Amino acid sequence: TWSAVPAGPPDPILGVTEAFKADKDPRKINLGVGAYRDGNGKPYVLESVQKAEKLLTISKPDKEYLPITGLADFTKRAALLAYGADSVPLNQGAVAVTQSISGTGALRIGGAFLARHYPHSKVIYLPVPSWGNHTPIFRDSGLEVRGYRYFDKKTVGLDFEGLKADLRAAPEQSIVLLHACAHNPTGVDPTQVQWAEISDIVKERKLFPFFDMAYQGFASGDTARDAFAVRHFVAEGHQIALAQSFAKNMGLYGERVGAFSLVTADAAEKARVDSQMKIVIRPMYSNPPIHGALVANAILGDTALYDQWESEVKGMADRIISMREKLYGMLTHDLKTPGEWGHIKSQIGMFSFTGLNPAQTKVLAEKAHVYMTADGRISMAGLNANNIEYFATSVDAAVKG
Ligand code: LMR
Repeated sequence: TWSAVPAGPPDPILGVTEAFKADKDPRKINLGVGAYRDGNGKPYVLESVQKAEKLLTISKPDKEYLPITGLADFTKRAALLAYGADSVPLNQGAVAVTQSISGTGALRIGGAFLARHYPHSKVIYLPVPSWGNHTPIFRDSGLEVRGYRYFDKKTVGLDFEGLKADLRAAPEQSIVLLHACAHNPTGVDPTQVQWAEISDIVKERKLFPFFDMAYQGFASGDTARDAFAVRHFVAEGHQIALAQSFAKNMGLYGERVGAFSLVTADAAEKARVDSQMKIVIRPMYSNPPIHGALVANAILGDTALYDQWESEVKGMADRIISMREKLYGMLTHDLKTPGEWGHIKSQIGMFSFTGLNPAQTKVLAEKAHVYMTADGRISMAGLNANNIEYFATSVDAAVKG
C-alpha cells in the first residue's frame, strides 16, 4: 500500500536533535533546537513553574475537558500580557482569543482561520529567512507563501530598504507575518523607529499584520519592551492576528501552551469570530491540554509568582547575553578567527546567525560533534562555561579550514 511513499527529509531543526542523540562522543554539543539550557547544559524547569505545580498538587484540579478555546482565565491573562493593560480593543472586549498547542498551534489556527475567513487575500508574506516551520504551517493551512527581504548577508543586519520595498510592492491587503521580537533564525530585529515605519507601510498598503511572538521576555528580559511592536501596531489601529507561545519564556516546551488572538472591531464581531474559531479548532484536536495552561495561569494570576517568573526570564536572557560576550571575545581576541563577529554580540534573543556556511556546519558536526542548523544558526542557550571554549576552538578550526 505504501510502496509509492517516498522517504521524506529530516526536519531542518528537530532533525538536528536526532543526529545529536545518535552521536556518542562525550564532547558533543547541541546548538540546534531553541530550547534553554542552564549553566550546566541541563534543561531548566523555572522555580515559578515548580511552585505553580506544587500549588496545583494541593488544589488537585480535575482532568475534565477544557472548552474548545481553552482555559478562559489563562487566555484572558495571556492576552493581557501581550496587549498590555492600556490596550483599547482589549478593554472594549474586542479581542478574540483561544488557547493553542503552543506557538505552532497558534500559527496553524491563524492560518486556517485566515484561509477560510479573510476575504481579501490568500497570500502570506514571510521574512526571508524565517523560522523553518512557518512555510509548511501556512502552506498546509491553505495559504500561498511568498517572501519579503529581511536579512542582509553583507551587513549581517536588517535589509530595511529591501523590506520596505517588498512590502510596498505586495498586493494590497496581503497578509504579512512579522516576528514580534527576537527574530528566528537571524536574531536581527527592527528598531522601534523602524517598527513605526513598517506600521505606516502596512497601513498604506492595507496589509494584514500577523505577529508571531514566541519570545516575549526573552529578547530584552522585559516583557513589556518585547511587546513593543505588537502594542504599537494595535495603538495605531491595526486589527492584528497574534500567535503567542509559552514554550521559551516559561520553559513549558513539552506542555504545549500558547494562544492565538484576533483584534476585532467590537464585542459583537468578537463573538462571531469566537464562534468560528471553535469551528476551526474542534475538528483539529477538539480542545487543548489542561496542565500547562493551569501552570501558566497560576503564574500570570499571582503577583508574587509573576514577579518571580519575570526575574527568571530576565535571568535566562542575561545568561544568553553573557555567552554572546564570551564567545565574541574568544573568537576575536583569543583565537583571532578570520571574519567579523560583532553580530554575535548585537543579535537578539535565543539565536545567533553565525554566518557559518553549510559546508562548515557539516564539518563541525562530523569532526567536532558540534550540531547546529545547516543555515549556521546556533542556539546561544546551548553554550555554557564548560563547553564554550571547545565550541569556539572548533569554529575557529572550521573557519580556518
Ligand atoms: C526552534 O526554532 O528551534 C524552536 O522554535 C523549536 C522548534 O520547534 O523549531
